Amino acid sequence: MKKLIIKGSKELTGEIHIGGAKNSVVALIPATCLTKGKCVIHNVPNISDVAMLIQMMEYLGSKVTYENEVLTIDNKDLKEKPIPTEFSSCLRASYYFMGSLGGHFKHAEISFPGGCTIGARPIDIHLDSFKKQGFKVVEKDGTYTMSALKIKGKDIFFDFPSVGATINVMLSAVLAEGTTRIINAAREPEIGNVAEFLNNMGAMITGAGSAEIVIEGVKELHGAEVTVIPDRIEAGTYIIIGSLLGRNLKISGINKDHLISLTSKLTDAGVKLKLNKDSIVVSKSKNLKAINVKTTFYPGFPTDLGQPMSAFLTQCKGESLFEETIYENRLRHIPYLTTMGANIQSLEKKAVIIGPSQLRGRKVKATDLRAGASLLVAGMIANGTTEVFNVEHLLRGYENVVDKLNDCGADIKLIDD
Ligand code: EPU
Repeated sequence: MKKLIIKGSKELTGEIHIGGAKNSVVALIPATCLTKGKCVIHNVPNISDVAMLIQMMEYLGSKVTYENEVLTIDNKDLKEKPIPTEFSSCLRASYYFMGSLGGHFKHAEISFPGGCTIGARPIDIHLDSFKKQGFKVVEKDGTYTMSALKIKGKDIFFDFPSVGATINVMLSAVLAEGTTRIINAAREPEIGNVAEFLNNMGAMITGAGSAEIVIEGVKELHGAEVTVIPDRIEAGTYIIIGSLLGRNLKISGINKDHLISLTSKLTDAGVKLKLNKDSIVVSKSKNLKAINVKTTFYPGFPTDLGQPMSAFLTQCKGESLFEETIYENRLRHIPYLTTMGANIQSLEKKAVIIGPSQLRGRKVKATDLRAGASLLVAGMIANGTTEVFNVEHLLRGYENVVDKLNDCGADIKLIDD
């Protein structure tokens, strides 16, 4: 296990460059299984989820190289094989092999996907959609086997705009016979990135990024290239840190349109942001005001930034209402913020955060990826030293987090616990 040791209250100045989006690349890599060709993915972040997916691709027979943020996947010898729990339990995104292997080979076998324990996270919308497309799906002891004689284009309506199900249906529909329409699709920017890649491979997808996506099935896909979009959650986390500790801290390599929900909330709280074409400059702001933040699907405030944002709210004067609406269990970091001196009353998915509170360094535990990000923010603004245990979670989604922050003036060590 690893832990972070953070000496708090250090001013940050300089530049932090944002890497490729975790939630895009974790779909782009499995998407390559739709072709036997060679694919090149640019701007690939160096995070442990990518390392795990590389292992999974090699297990399936792909030849993979990863150098200077460029991932090359040659699928000449790709085979459809059962994906065992050792792999699938490591990350949520392993469910994308259902859509991609299923779409290519009309057969896939995979154990239930892992990921952060932030709620029940069922995959019923994925499975119902696969069944509508003609797959027979059998579940036995947590392993799903799906097979189809032919994959049929269909109208598929989602009760909820699930990110994972939207991408999975795109993956399983690109080689289907006929037209698939996803109605009430998720609109997160990562979905557009995956559609772009699939279209580069020869797919015919329109409407990605809107609530209705149309996929005309094609016979075959070929190798192609794509660039991973900037990680809006990594960027948002550093913008939050900059608004509490920055002196002209520049967050570069971003798409500011993907961050409007965050920048508008921070502006409401009194943060001064200078928005440039592909960067944001942020400084520590005084007299922050309480605001209400409610997470929801895109273009609403992202659930993945909710936990870091709650650490920010501890520094705002007055009573902020924070509400998580996507997951049942994404407030497990709150008791740790309270231990550090925050004044928070929480019930189920809501928290009233009364600020400002001077946080104090304590020993705390990252219960999931974004909880880790929240405790990182808290530790950086606290007086004294904070130790964050279980930071493997954080490293799944933030590349070179320690170096990126230390290069700007932070004092953080990552050590084996
Ligand atoms: N849901 C269902 N049934 C389904 C699918 C989803 O009930 O079949 C529910 C979930 O339980 C959850 C909600 O719908 O309550 C949202 O789930 P969604 O499918 O949209 O999320 P996901 O695909 O499992 C991805 C990201 C998450 C991010 C969400 C929302 C990946 C690998 N994961 O998850 O990322 O929170 O979209 O934007 O892309 C993170 O990065 O920290 C993270 C958890």
